[in-house]
Amino acid sequence: MDMLLQSTVSAVRGYWNSHPLGLQYVTDENIEVGSAEFFAHIRPWMNPYKFPWIMKRIEREATVLKGKHLLEVGCGMGYDSLELLKRGVRVTATDLTPSAVELTRRHFEIEGVQAEDVRTANVLDLPFGDNTYDSVWANGVLHATGDTVRAIREVRRVLKPGGRAIISHFYRKPSWMYLLHRLGRENIEYKEEDPPVNEFLTENEILAMFEGFVIVEAVQEHYRALPVCRGGLKATLYKYAFKPVYNLIPEPIAMRLAYKYSVTATKV
Ligand SMILES: C[S@@+](CC[C@H](N)C(=O)[O-])C[C@H]1O[C@@H](n2cnc3c(N)ncnc32)[C@H](O)[C@@H]1O
Repeated sequence: MDMLLQSTVSAVRGYWNSHPLGLQYVTDENIEVGSAEFFAHIRPWMNPYKFPWIMKRIEREATVLKGKHLLEVGCGMGYDSLELLKRGVRVTATDLTPSAVELTRRHFEIEGVQAEDVRTANVLDLPFGDNTYDSVWANGVLHATGDTVRAIREVRRVLKPGGRAIISHFYRKPSWMYLLHRLGRENIEYKEEDPPVNEFLTENEILAMFEGFVIVEAVQEHYRALPVCRGGLKATLYKYAFKPVYNLIPEPIAMRLAYKYSVTATKV
């Protein structure tokens, strides 16, 4: 890994270690981070619950992967892995940051589920052998690493031939969020500073990265503007001006402005 990428990874680790995804949704400061109450409090805001299409993907994949071994990269607080575990998938959950790993361990303990392993791992340099996993799951992660191409190559390396890469929520351009992003770097989804990297890519750029895979599904998602809980000028304008107007756009047009793109592909 060259010096530039190493320094990006270190900035990314520093950011996510102190801003694990979910913390921005806490509205009651008396709730203890990592308690049962904490995980329940932010659950409605977390990916599988906030985005119905993610829960459908979990349900679909769990029927294919029951009893098989899935690696989650960038697991955050482990909400997706938890749902996969509950449905009988064997899961190794990993994240770049110790804080996410610690919270995921607590979360699984509270929920009474048993993962194969929960540990730190960098998707740009996975500490696993070639052809190890039946599946790799990443949700909102690869575009935030600093080298999406390298991340997908690593995902492919650790997958068994025929194994499934289920990669949700690349940031897509052009899209309604890309437009907002161009109007000011502040990301309306985060309460404080933004993550160091959030790469927006065209669909063609994303698909070109899946060399050595057969694409099973590639879908545009998140084409409606959803509620956010950030304060500040941009988020207020978003909530009270942009969102109500944008959500009047007819569905077929809005779909073309989808913010996210998700790809399921099998390794050749
Ligand atoms: C937007 S959060 C998504 C978390 C989780 N997947 C979810 O949906 O709740 C991005 C996550 O990717 C992790 N991440 C960023 N770069 C990574 C890398 N190089 N390797 C592994 N995880 C990484 C971050 O630590 C963070 O937990």
